[in-house]
Amino acid sequence: MSNSTDLKTVVLYGSARRDRQGIKAARFVVRQLEARGHDVTLVDSQEYELPMLDWMYKEYEPGQAPEAMQRVAELLSAADGFVVVSSEYNHSIPAALKNLLDHYQSEYHYKPSGIVTYSAGPFGGVRALANLRAILAELGTPSIPTAFPVSHIRTAFDDEGNSLEVSIGQRVVAFLDEFEWYAAALRRARIRGIART
Ligand SMILES: Cc1cc2nc3c(=O)[nH]c(=O)nc-3n(C[C@H](O)[C@H](O)[C@H](O)COP(=O)(O)O)c2cc1C
Repeated sequence: MSNSTDLKTVVLYGSARRDRQGIKAARFVVRQLEARGHDVTLVDSQEYELPMLDWMYKEYEPGQAPEAMQRVAELLSAADGFVVVSSEYNHSIPAALKNLLDHYQSEYHYKPSGIVTYSAGPFGGVRALANLRAILAELGTPSIPTAFPVSHIRTAFDDEGNSLEVSIGQRVVAFLDEFEWYAAALRRARIRGIART
């Protein structure tokens, strides 16, 4: 899409497992967004290591939040939209991802999100997907209609995030086309001051 080249997109991913598979899906999404010209940052809960939620970011005096929390806040604030990559743990999202998301609030507002889910089996994490839509709506980053569930995560990507199934490379195009439409439209609205800041 022509107006996507300067979109700032944050990819959020949270699995704390040592053998986590979803990092490959997160890398795939990052690569796809980069190829489309986005300014992309991956926020991986394992890299930023926020504490279990005590104070939300907004509860700290300016400049007093832990450094990692501050860095994530700055990335989310600067973003035009978010792609959230989630596994399915017992039909919901991983605790590490929920903990990451819950630290922030106004940083999400009036920006869209796209949902990528995955699972070891054939269902692609669709039960977590439904759950995640409700969470993102409450956070103020409504999710776009098209989502991107990935089945059989172990064999879907290589370690660098290249897709190993033709259908994945095909489906992601419609998903990201739609994400860009919403991200660009809401950015225009924010610039024009339609949304409160
Ligand atoms: C605690 C736990 C709960 C799980 N629950 C589900 C589930 O409800 N549905 C499902 O399809 N897979 C489930 N799985 C399997 C995951 O889809 C699979 O392990 C996946 O690789 C986990 O993502 P990760 O490797 O990025 O942490 C579960 C895995 C774990 C560790």
